[in-house]
Amino acid sequence: MKAITLDSTKNSNLLLTEVQEKGVSEGEVRVSIKAAALNHRDEWCRQGLYPNIKDGVILGSDGAGIVTELGEGVDKEWLQKEVIVNPAMNWGENQKVQSASFEILGMPGNGTLAESVIVPVDRLHTKPDHLSWEEAGALPLAGLTAFRALTYKGSIQPGENLLVTGFGGGVAQFAVQFGLALDAKVSTSSSSKKKLEKAHALGVTHVFDYQYSNWTSKALTNVDGFDLIIDGAVGDTLGQLIQVAKPGGKIVFYGATLGNPSKLEARKIFWNQLQIIGTTMGSDLDFKNMVSLVCKKKIHPIIDRVFKFEEAEQAFDRMRDGKQMGKIVLVP
Ligand SMILES: NC(=O)c1ccc[n+]([C@@H]2O[C@H](COP(=O)([O-])OP(=O)(O)OC[C@H]3O[C@@H](n4cnc5c(N)ncnc54)[C@H](OP(=O)(O)O)[C@@H]3O)[C@@H](O)[C@H]2O)c1
Repeated sequence: MKAITLDSTKNSNLLLTEVQEKGVSEGEVRVSIKAAALNHRDEWCRQGLYPNIKDGVILGSDGAGIVTELGEGVDKEWLQKEVIVNPAMNWGENQKVQSASFEILGMPGNGTLAESVIVPVDRLHTKPDHLSWEEAGALPLAGLTAFRALTYKGSIQPGENLLVTGFGGGVAQFAVQFGLALDAKVSTSSSSKKKLEKAHALGVTHVFDYQYSNWTSKALTNVDGFDLIIDGAVGDTLGQLIQVAKPGGKIVFYGATLGNPSKLEARKIFWNQLQIIGTTMGSDLDFKNMVSLVCKKKIHPIIDRVFKFEEAEQAFDRMRDGKQMGKIVLVP
């Protein structure tokens, strides 16, 4: 089958190649991929900036498709079902934190950027009817991360002021859409005027360009502080987020694209009773509840562009350069 593997001997670190299909073991299914999507994790893997990466592994955590083969012990009902795949493997029973054997589909094991992927049957969820294949393939990892950040970690309540930073990002666009669906008063930031116009059109009340350092004064004048901030950048922007958080507010971060902060206003954090909280993907229950919300509110993932597998390098470069508005999708 056709697949995109990590290959550090190539200039692009990617190889579109023919891979021998493996057999399906007990409790597993083969899903024929209709659409897969990129997460920044795939780009970190390509750049060698992710732990335990190995050449030859098929990249990709997001995917949707049709079940074409069942391993022993799998209910026959699954055959030919249209599904999405939960890429959070072995989370375990503890809602607070993943188990020590937690893994993400698509490194170190083979992922979704292939004509088919083999996963344990318990990773399958029925594809939401209102989504196209491209939208369904774009949902899993970023949708799960945004949902847990907002709900389990952020405990967002109707009417609360929510700020989601970097609206163009895969996780961020879900955090904005889920925040709106949960009746929060949503604001967002971006480096792009066009992306902020898109956010306005969705129902976001206040938008900020994070490239201008005075965006924080504008936020404080217009919004009077945020109850919850969802961020994936951190770096020295954390200091700005601390300034615009309401006393008693929460900052939930799921990534650190800009690295660690060089300094931290510790006094402001304790005096204002702020909570700075980390989050990673989500439990099986988070995934189930995320899909329920998407179905109930008929939420559509924002698709930036759809590329063919043959155009993988362009797709990864687009993510590296931060040009995307929403999810970058790849189809076999
Ligand atoms: N812990 C987890 O489970 C988990 C899950 C998913 C992602 N992540 C991590 O979270 C980060 C984002 O992932 P993604 O897949 O959503 O990435 P992505 O689609 O590549 O989005 C990155 C976005 O970051 C925004 N950004 C860049 N500089 C910023 C700044 N100074 N302030 C605020 N936003 C800024 C940009 O938004 P604009 O284009 O709007 O300017 C950009 O589009 C990555 O580091 C990723 O590894 C972690």
